[in-house]
Amino acid sequence: MEGVLDHRMRQLLSELNPYDLCVTEFVRVVSQPVSDKVFYRLAPELKRGGKTRNGTPVRVQLLGQDPDWLAHNAARAIELGSPGVDINFGCPAKTVNRSKGGAVLLKEPELIYRIVQAMRQAVPSDQVLSAKIRLGWDCHSRTMEIAQAIESAGANELAIHARTKADGYRAEAIKWAAIAPVAQALSIPVIANGEITDFAAGQRCQQASGCTDLMLGRGALSVPNLAAVVKNDVAPLSWSAIQGVLTEYVALEVSGDKERYFPNRIKQWFGFLRQAYPEADALFGPLRRLKRSEEIIALLEAA
Ligand SMILES: Cc1cc2nc3c(=O)[nH]c(=O)nc-3n(C[C@H](O)[C@H](O)[C@H](O)COP(=O)(O)O)c2cc1C
Repeated sequence: MEGVLDHRMRQLLSELNPYDLCVTEFVRVVSQPVSDKVFYRLAPELKRGGKTRNGTPVRVQLLGQDPDWLAHNAARAIELGSPGVDINFGCPAKTVNRSKGGAVLLKEPELIYRIVQAMRQAVPSDQVLSAKIRLGWDCHSRTMEIAQAIESAGANELAIHARTKADGYRAEAIKWAAIAPVAQALSIPVIANGEITDFAAGQRCQQASGCTDLMLGRGALSVPNLAAVVKNDVAPLSWSAIQGVLTEYVALEVSGDKERYFPNRIKQWFGFLRQAYPEADALFGPLRRLKRSEEIIALLEAA
């Protein structure tokens, strides 16, 4: 998740949870090669065989609209050690959609087909090529057409966020059942995503979508052990356990580039944590006003 789920968060969450796979924040592809520096910045795990410290695979995700450049950069991601490559057709951000990347491509299944086909030709056949979509741009009428285009172009996995672009992130718009006919029609694994916030929601999503495999989004940041909750029906971490996790996160950040990213990232994370923890909600106001890492760390320590 762009802007919040970086390699430190992946390290933390993959140590708390039995994740089968993490996907990077999207790597934006325009009409040129992505430099190795950018790949390594967004996916430092490439330097350890494409895995987090505890061995969870981390797949590079690309976002763009040019089939040839996406293919070129997909091949490079694999050369650098990414376990497969993912292509993002779900991002609703205006800046991204204006330059014809992300969800806006859902209006053009033919272009989606050409993109996936070009990437397939560039990515070795023993490597997974996965795609991420929403149900559509503003309706569900073309979900099957889009999904079939992706499968017939050679993708091995498809993750579906069960909302349209027009639905944004509204909870009441979630439509897991709209995934079911696609999951049934396709022969590649389909992974259901959207609004999985606890064990019961995971069960309901599996039932409605017909998918065994689930992908977590915002909930993974609200409840840091959500994958364990959803997979093994364990209790969500207590706030005091979360405080331990926060201490570990701060330590990871302090050993990294804290001044540049830490204040924004921790504020973003608290924006999610406060959905599940009243204690995080109480801290969110004062935290938001602070600009410097030291001040933020002092506030967390005092709490
Ligand atoms: C801040 C933010 C950043 C995101 N960045 C990405 C991204 O880089 N790649 C991607 O495939 N999805 C991204 N997503 C979408 C999520 O992966 C997920 O599909 C969506 O939030 C629905 O799942 P949820 O209801 O469990 O959050 C992002 C979502 C949010 C809120």
